[in-house]
Amino acid sequence: MLDKKALRDLSYGLYIITATTKDGRKVGCIANTFQQVASEPPMASVSLNKENATTQAILETGEFAASVLSEEATMDLIGPFGFKCSRDVDKFTQVEHRLCEAGIPFVISGCLASFSVEVHDRVDAGSHILFVGQVVEAEKLAEGTPMTYAYYHAVLRGKTPPKAVSYVEEASEPNEQPSAAEAAVNAGATEEGSAPKYGWRCKLCGYIEMMDELPDDYTCPICGMGKDMFERVEL
Ligand SMILES: Cc1cc2nc3c(=O)[nH]c(=O)nc-3n(C[C@H](O)[C@H](O)[C@H](O)COP(=O)(O)O)c2cc1C
Repeated sequence: MLDKKALRDLSYGLYIITATTKDGRKVGCIANTFQQVASEPPMASVSLNKENATTQAILETGEFAASVLSEEATMDLIGPFGFKCSRDVDKFTQVEHRLCEAGIPFVISGCLASFSVEVHDRVDAGSHILFVGQVVEAEKLAEGTPMTYAYYHAVLRGKTPPKAVSYVEEASEPNEQPSAAEAAVNAGATEEGSAPKYGWRCKLCGYIEMMDELPDDYTCPICGMGKDMFERVEL
């Protein structure tokens, strides 16, 4: 028996993993898979998708930083790091960050602590690479409550993109991105001719909601952005 629903009972925190490419660009992504794995010496691991720009940078340099997200962090911070690729955008322009002693950028905005990690081992885990390394720097940035994955889902109503470790389990959630037909039904347009003429595209994650007007309190089911982040598209 392999009931993937059982995996939903695993608990995680939420982190921003950052690194520098060989040519000096700052990259980073959200991960729920960072954790301490040994005390002496202090060791940590993170599991990152092979296609992430951040993964490639860590493979090139053998080091990364991790910042612990606070419950105070908003989707304005989490959205770009979790849904955009560093090859397409500079995620650091609007975000307070510093360089650790090893020169790796780490995020300060919305974060409680940061670590820099020197990679000792890599495990090929199929879609992801598990990086295991020694924590060589650690710093407390602020007081507060660390954000858990459960809080992210329940309070921020955040979603998980395909490259995250836990995506497969979430794919069967009832409110995943609807097909065109499903969206039309959702919008109350079940009969031919009454389907919506317009859709609304989230400028952050690209999700398209197919309805003529979005309610004022609408939030993107993929990345949590509000109505003002949507642009109208003709269907
Ligand atoms: C809540 C959440 C958790 C995530 N966890 C992981 C993870 O553990 N591993 C991973 O590879 N990607 C994870 N992601 C997806 C990456 O953050 C995302 O694919 C990002 O756009 C990659 O950026 P990059 O290409 O600049 O590295 C997660 C995203 C979110 C929103």
